Amino acid sequence: MIIAVDGPAASGKGTIARALARHYGLPHLDTGLLYRAVALTVMRNELDPEKEADAVASCDFPDSLLDDPALRGDEAGKAASIVSAHPLVRAALLQRQRRFAQQPGGAVLDGRDIGTVIAPEADAKLFVKATPMIRARRRHEELKRGGSTVTYDRVLADIRARDARDSSRSAAPLVQAPDAMLLDTSFLSIEAAVQKAIALVDARIASNADVER
Ligand code: CDP
Repeated sequence: MIIAVDGPAASGKGTIARALARHYGLPHLDTGLLYRAVALTVMRNELDPEKEADAVASCDFPDSLLDDPALRGDEAGKAASIVSAHPLVRAALLQRQRRFAQQPGGAVLDGRDIGTVIAPEADAKLFVKATPMIRARRRHEELKRGGSTVTYDRVLADIRARDARDSSRSAAPLVQAPDAMLLDTSFLSIEAAVQKAIALVDARIASNADVER
């Protein structure tokens, strides 16, 4: 069984994807980390994330980089949203994600284009969203806990800029797949959002089984 979880920054998609993976006993891939790894490689080699050739030259990073705590930082996230707009970067990371999705037994993947590009054949697709203000509040709390002194207004401006970049790019923009189930987490606790996600996936799997019968 393949489960695709897509959505914007701080929508809760990562937490939901991890919980679904645990619930159904499936491996999980946070595909944002791949773009963050490319971004971090660009930054460490003092290359320019806006330049497609510089970003492509950074796609061949070692697996060990995926455990680097610097990937989680805000700088890497911002640069990730720049490198991820280059079609050749997306192409370079495609097979790796497809292989993960198609492993025997299935998998849960979260990102921006899982249901539309990486695994259009997924058995269940969720599109997770929340208002920009609520997402900014969550991200601000998270950054403060990590010791950052960034202001809420700055975080909100970054979220809006990231949304605009992710949604308007021509290569695999952030859009809800026509067959994805919408989950708005704006007014849900983490537990409630996870329960809702499991109920949606269970319902979709049951209806897929009905169609096959
Ligand atoms: O949750 P947040 O947006 O902070 O981070 P992320 O999911 O790690 O993604 C970082 C950036 O990578 C996003 O802004 C997207 O531009 C890009 N990304 C993408 O284009 N496609 C994916 N499947 C995953 C991430």
